[in-house]
Amino acid sequence: MLSLQHVRKTYAGPQGPVVALVDFSLELGRGEFVAVRGPSGCGKTTLLLVAGGLLRPDAGHVLLDGQDMYQLSREARARLRACRIGFVFQQFHLVPYLSVLDNVLTPALAQALPDARNHARELIDRFGLSARAPHVPAELSTGERQRTALARALLNRPHLLLADEPTGNLDEANGDIVLKALAEFARGGGAVLLVTHDPRAASVADRMIQLEKTSEVPPSGTRQNGQEHEGGTSEVSSTVPRGGSR
Ligand SMILES: Nc1ncnc2c1ncn2[C@@H]1O[C@H](COP(=O)(O)OP(=O)(O)O)[C@@H](O)[C@H]1O
Ligand SMILES: [Mg+2]
Repeated sequence: MLSLQHVRKTYAGPQGPVVALVDFSLELGRGEFVAVRGPSGCGKTTLLLVAGGLLRPDAGHVLLDGQDMYQLSREARARLRACRIGFVFQQFHLVPYLSVLDNVLTPALAQALPDARNHARELIDRFGLSARAPHVPAELSTGERQRTALARALLNRPHLLLADEPTGNLDEANGDIVLKALAEFARGGGAVLLVTHDPRAASVADRMIQLEKTSEVPPSGTRQNGQEHEGGTSEVSSTVPRGGSR
C-alpha cells in the first residue's frame, strides 16, 4: 500500500544542511501497523510528511497504492491525499471556531461525499463524543480533542493513517483509546504508520522501527541503509542510521 524507497530529505538550516532522513526504505501493506520510535529530532515528523505527500524528498520514491506520489501534479497529489490518507497529529490541528461535527466534516469539503454527515455522526458516536458534537474545541478536554481529530482522519475512509505522536498530550486512558482505534483501523484492512515516543506502541503495532539520530553528516557518496531486520519474535526492531547536524 505504502512504499518508501531510498528516501532522503535534507533541510537548509542556518548552520548548513540538516539531514533529516538518510536512505530510508519501508514497505507497509494492507492491515499492517508499523510504529517508528526514536529521539526528538531524528526525523519522525519529516518521515510522515514525506510519506503523506506533503513534503517532497530530495531523493527516492514514495508509492501509495502503486502510484508515485511525487510524480503526480500538485492537484492530483492533493486529491490522492484527501481520499486515501488520514492524518492525526500531537497538536490535533482542529479548527478553533468550528464545532466537533464540522471539524469532523472538514475532509468532506474537498470530496462532497453524500454520506459524509451520517458517517461523521457515526464516528462521533463511536468515539463517545455525541454530547460534544455542537461544542468548539476550546470547550473540549484534551482527550476529546484528539478523538475529534481521529474521527476527522477516518471520515473519508482512508487506506492509510499517518499518526505523529498522537498520544503525546494524552493521559493513559485517552492514549489507550487512540492506540486501540489505530489498531482497529489496521485490523479492518487499513495501514497505519505511527511515529511516537510512547512505549505502549509496542503492544499494539505489528512491527517497530527504531530511527536513530547520529551527529554526523554522512560523507557524500556514502550510502547508509535503512533496512529492516526481521526478528524472531512478534516485535521486530530495525535501526536506521541517520546523519544530522544542527
Ligand atoms: N523546516 C525545517 N527547516 C530546517 N530544519 C528542519 C525543519 N524541519 C525539521 N528540521 C530538522 O530536521 C531534523 C528532523 O526533524 P523532525 O522530522 O521534526 O524530527 P522529529 O519529529 O523526530 O523530532 C531536526 O534536526 C530538525 O531540527
Ligand atoms: Mg516530530
